[in-house]
Amino acid sequence: MCRMNVKALKQQAGEFAATFVESGMLVGLGSGSTAIFATRRIAQRIHSGDLRDIRAVPTSLATEAAASELGIPLTDLTGATRIDITIDGADEVDPAFNLIKGGGGAHLREKIVAQATERLVIVVDDSKLVEQLGTSWAVPVEVIPFGWESQAAYLQFIGARPALRLDGESPFKTDQGNHILDAAFGPIADPAALDATLSARAGIVEHGLFINMTRDVVVASSDGLQHLPR
Ligand code: A5P
Repeated sequence: MCRMNVKALKQQAGEFAATFVESGMLVGLGSGSTAIFATRRIAQRIHSGDLRDIRAVPTSLATEAAASELGIPLTDLTGATRIDITIDGADEVDPAFNLIKGGGGAHLREKIVAQATERLVIVVDDSKLVEQLGTSWAVPVEVIPFGWESQAAYLQFIGARPALRLDGESPFKTDQGNHILDAAFGPIADPAALDATLSARAGIVEHGLFINMTRDVVVASSDGLQHLPR
């Protein structure tokens, strides 16, 4: 059987998830190369008249720029207590739908939006499915620049191999102006415990473990699309 190219799989997953959006909804727009296909399809549905009265909250400056160019009416979280649906990508998804996110460095805003969302739909190609988080991906840890080396030492102390993410020769900068330490833990036995440990550390702004937040996963593979509701 021929393996479809990954971009085509991402497109299938993203566009399928865009069918979950209904008129009148407040929609979270995810970041990355898979979620963008959902954003584009939502824009098409708005312009064709199939969707009305949509407002959307982007999860990164890049998504904000893309969505605004596509003519999607945007808002922020001011005055909005609940987002109806968010469609976002992930770097790893485990069988309990826990995630590693932040490959693009947008996980802080993505988590703020996810936590405010009724139905978080994750769109991936099947290469992102793992038995245990950490198997093939490091956990992105956003740290404030002040004292970042002490966060790197802490991550090492708790068992990770941390690497400062670079953009060319300089540290990568998040939308908030922070740094990212990609912390390779290897397979993570207890993601919820690691979530709590990382969240308790001053200087760590947010990390890419998304525990118990996802409602649906849409997986595209060469065998077709699978929609896995929880
Ligand atoms: C952005 O920081 C990330 O959380 C992305 O959603 C995640 O890395 C998945 O990206 P792709 O869809 O580009 O693989």
